[in-house]
Amino acid sequence: MVIVQMERKHVSQVAELEKLCFADPWSEKSIASELENGLACWLVAAEGDAVAGYVGSQTVMGESDMMNLAVHPDFRRQGIGEALVNGLIDALGQRGSSSLTLEVRASNLPAQKLYQKLGFVQVGRRPNYYYHPKEDGLILRKEWVL
Ligand SMILES: CC(C)(COP(=O)(O)OP(=O)(O)OC[C@H]1O[C@@H](n2cnc3c(N)ncnc32)[C@H](O)[C@@H]1OP(=O)(O)O)[C@@H](O)C(=O)NCCC(=O)NCCS
Repeated sequence: MVIVQMERKHVSQVAELEKLCFADPWSEKSIASELENGLACWLVAAEGDAVAGYVGSQTVMGESDMMNLAVHPDFRRQGIGEALVNGLIDALGQRGSSSLTLEVRASNLPAQKLYQKLGFVQVGRRPNYYYHPKEDGLILRKEWVL
């Protein structure tokens, strides 16, 4: 398993994983358009051409936001989510970014445990940020020295 930049050949599998993992998935078209977006950085965990997980982010003025992170249910608890977030932090650092902010559902304890393990801290809470079902979002952030 390697962590690599998302390419066109990965997009349909990433879109399938979005549908599998989220109530409001990004469309395949939206994901593909990120390949042309200079502000975006998306990584996949790949075994050959097969995608087991992915992470997506955008950076504006040195401030990065993580929009998506998912690992296929069959491949969870093997360190892939952790490798994706660490890979993203490395890639963003190389681009000059020194912080990463994200929202996570208040009930999503597995993801919160992962972010906590990687040194993210809660900096806020957005009431009713999520739909399907409606739920608060916790705002987490990690900063690092370049
Ligand atoms: C959250 C998610 C990406 C984690 O991916 P993963 O590959 O299973 O995570 P890892 O194996 O790298 O786990 C790293 C750490 O996260 C925590 N963790 C992950 N899954 C956990 C679970 N089900 N319960 C408790 N802690 C968990 C643990 O601290 C773990 O470290 P450990 O193995 O030393 O205990 C995955 O569960 C997923 O895709 N969930 C659905 C989509 C989602 O919620 N995305 C996040 C949106 S903000």
